[in-house]
Amino acid sequence: MAVPLRIALAGLGTVGGGVIRLLESNADLIARRAGRPVEVVAVSARDRNKDRGFDIGRFAWEDDMSALAARGDVDVVVELVGGSDGPALALGRNALAAGKGLVTANKAMIAHHGMELAQAAEASGAALKFEAAVAGGIPVVKGLREGAAANEIERIYGILNGTCNYILSTMEETGRDFGDVLKDAQELGYAEADPTFDVEGIDAAHKLSILAAIAFGAKIDFASVETEGISRLRAADIEQADALGFVIRLIGIADTETGPSGEETLFQRVCPYLVSRDHPLATVAGATNAVVAEGNYSGRLLFEGAGAGDGPTASAVVADLVDIARGITGAPLGVPADMLQPMPKADAGHRVARDYLRFVVADRPGVLAEITAAMRDAGVSIESLIQKGRPEEGGEVTVSIVTHDGPEANVDRALELLEGSDSLTEAPLVLQLLEN
Ligand code: NAP
Ligand code: HSE
Repeated sequence: MAVPLRIALAGLGTVGGGVIRLLESNADLIARRAGRPVEVVAVSARDRNKDRGFDIGRFAWEDDMSALAARGDVDVVVELVGGSDGPALALGRNALAAGKGLVTANKAMIAHHGMELAQAAEASGAALKFEAAVAGGIPVVKGLREGAAANEIERIYGILNGTCNYILSTMEETGRDFGDVLKDAQELGYAEADPTFDVEGIDAAHKLSILAAIAFGAKIDFASVETEGISRLRAADIEQADALGFVIRLIGIADTETGPSGEETLFQRVCPYLVSRDHPLATVAGATNAVVAEGNYSGRLLFEGAGAGDGPTASAVVADLVDIARGITGAPLGVPADMLQPMPKADAGHRVARDYLRFVVADRPGVLAEITAAMRDAGVSIESLIQKGRPEEGGEVTVSIVTHDGPEANVDRALELLEGSDSLTEAPLVLQLLEN
């Protein structure tokens, strides 16, 4: 009889519950593929008495989850609690220090402390795996780290947050309100404990920083991700995008470029983009995620699948456990942590883009001239301009402008020129266009 891989599970919520159910229902198949059974021996969560829809009486229980790392009957600790620091990080550190494998779905913790945890894993020879931390059920970490290992990755980008994609595509299809659709995403178990992490782009930025490190051999640098979420979007932006032949999606995008002193620099950005309808990301709806990696030999690789939810995320967690049961460890980020490059943040000003600019302005003579003068003075060329307004006198109107290709710095300059203008009733919104 093969020796089982013995698991301690911290967190029995959406993902933890999914892992318990998956390990149970697919036990025979997993044992065959892993070469040995994968068995949960101990668990921890906040409330021992909560009804979770499965029996926890067969597992040992620890009130204090860090005690899981010290148990002699455990080979791998699975952390499914969340939070970049606090108990999750303490558990992760203790597990690796004790030479136990660590599997986690916690992108916040990997984005903030992944370098330290990878070094600890490499020092102790223990496995550190986090497939579920990026894009839920999609095997994109493995796909990049192993499947695309022969390639220079030129660019990586995609839809990395299921909650935002669910909100945007549902608003687009049904015309329902932002807050109303966010509530659905929370009920379906997609949203983070603090949903501002989803809607303000922070969760996608966590994931992007992890992917960028693997793709470009860079140190994880979450702090350098330029991040903007979807909370400023209005139904009018979605309608306007539609009229122009685009959909709006929250996209994370990263690439490298040569800096002014010849050094390699890293560009990482998360923000809403207008995605042209013929782009593969435009049809990605609901909580689906999709990641495009452009390899210099593979060409465009597209990874697509469920980005959140109990089943898909559990699938990624258990795939990591199967790897560990098979004896596969390896550098968590593809190359040893000490060999990852510290890449300075790229200066985005010279990057060329076509933009959608939305101004909400007072409905009075001269306002349009003021906006277009600022664009002229900053060297921004306008491709089209649409004004939509309320009929009542003195109301607000929305002015939407699409620019020709031009440097980002010019658009920034135009907005600086308009700063403080009493014609604008709210800060302008700038979205870039993502075309095929
Ligand atoms: P969740 O449903 O809120 O579950 C969290 C679990 O952690 C609960 O069982 C909770 O205990 C337990 N917990 C919280 N604080 C604790 C503490 N101080 N000590 C012990 N246990 C504690 O969260 P989730 O959605 O499963 O997410 C878990 C992790 O997976 C997070 O890092 C999240 O970002 C990540 N993730 C989630 C998804 C998704 O679709 N949900 C997808 C990918 C990654 P009680 O049940 O007793 O309250
Ligand atoms: N809150 C995350 C999302 C869960 O909506 O994508 C998956 O990481």
